[in-house]
Amino acid sequence: MTRLVELEETGPRKLDPSDLDDENGDIAVCQCGLSESFPFCDGSHRQTRDEDDGTTYIYEDGDRRVVERIVTAEGDAA
Ligand code: FES
Repeated sequence: MTRLVELEETGPRKLDPSDLDDENGDIAVCQCGLSESFPFCDGSHRQTRDEDDGTTYIYEDGDRRVVERIVTAEGDAA
């Protein structure tokens, strides 16, 4: 499975000690791209548990859709 994710930042987010989770003492960085607290994990990745291998998804306004076709300047990508 893959996911289309839109990100608007153009630079890095530097982490500091205030980013540590008070309960767990660690920092969980989002790797799914769905967190409302990006770059930190907020549990939104749970929505991806039933995604199928070989399928591309997009999540918008709380809904998930399957992406059938991606067109880039170079041509079809999916
Ligand atoms: S890994 Fe993205 S919300 Fe947890």
